[in-house]
Amino acid sequence: MRRAEMWFLEEVDSTNNEIRKLGDAGAEEGTIVVAEQQTGGKGRRGREWYSPAGTGIWMSVLLRPELSPDKVSGMTLMAALSVCRAIRTVTGLETQIKWPNDLVIDGRKVCGILTEAVMSGSELRYVVLGIGVNVNQTEFPAELPYAYSLAMAAGRALDRKQIIDEIVVCLGEDYENYLRSGDMRGLKSDYEKHLANCGMAVRVLAPSGEWSGVAVGISDSGDLLVRDETDEMKPVNSGEVSVRGIYGYT
Ligand code: BTN
Repeated sequence: MRRAEMWFLEEVDSTNNEIRKLGDAGAEEGTIVVAEQQTGGKGRRGREWYSPAGTGIWMSVLLRPELSPDKVSGMTLMAALSVCRAIRTVTGLETQIKWPNDLVIDGRKVCGILTEAVMSGSELRYVVLGIGVNVNQTEFPAELPYAYSLAMAAGRALDRKQIIDEIVVCLGEDYENYLRSGDMRGLKSDYEKHLANCGMAVRVLAPSGEWSGVAVGISDSGDLLVRDETDEMKPVNSGEVSVRGIYGYT
């Protein structure tokens, strides 16, 4: 990923929406939008993402991989690993990854990632990687009991710009690695080192029904590998199911 233009905006509805406008207008891969505040921050599964002014990192990156659309869900895991590495390098804080792409500290969420694939018919046009990191918040609304910030974990305020710059570096490296195989093969062992669900009992909420098992790792494509109660190993795809684990949020 060549680092193209980086836009710093005061207030937007969602940095993912800004990148979509730029992507539709033909902007280059590596274009980045960072906002001080989002008024309509988007989370996964149609949820809102709390994005107050001047405290967190609300950023989106435009990628134009020459990959088939089924490879996009794995890029979300790739980005989680990149942000985990960047946070460790800049702050010394160890985050864990709650599959597929939440970063947690002490079981509370410090980062979420929303990946959007923009299609033209059955062809992938481009990918929007939206990254939200809670950095300097000192408190959260009561309705977000599992939210946490890096500053709360570190006991001091942190430099957002330094973290943004390191995310761009780590993402560049991990994206190159991802493109080599078109999947998580080259990143899997590093990802699994940080996987909070590893060895944990999980409940899989699939459209076909719920079942329980123990998470043991990920596949090359980024599926969670879960050993069910009959000892059968089953791949669980992030696009299709949600996994409820040791944490109180899904
Ligand atoms: C989640 O865990 O639900 C995903 C949250 C993703 C939030 C980021 S903030 C920057 C980008 N713009 C958005 O509207 N959402 C993502």
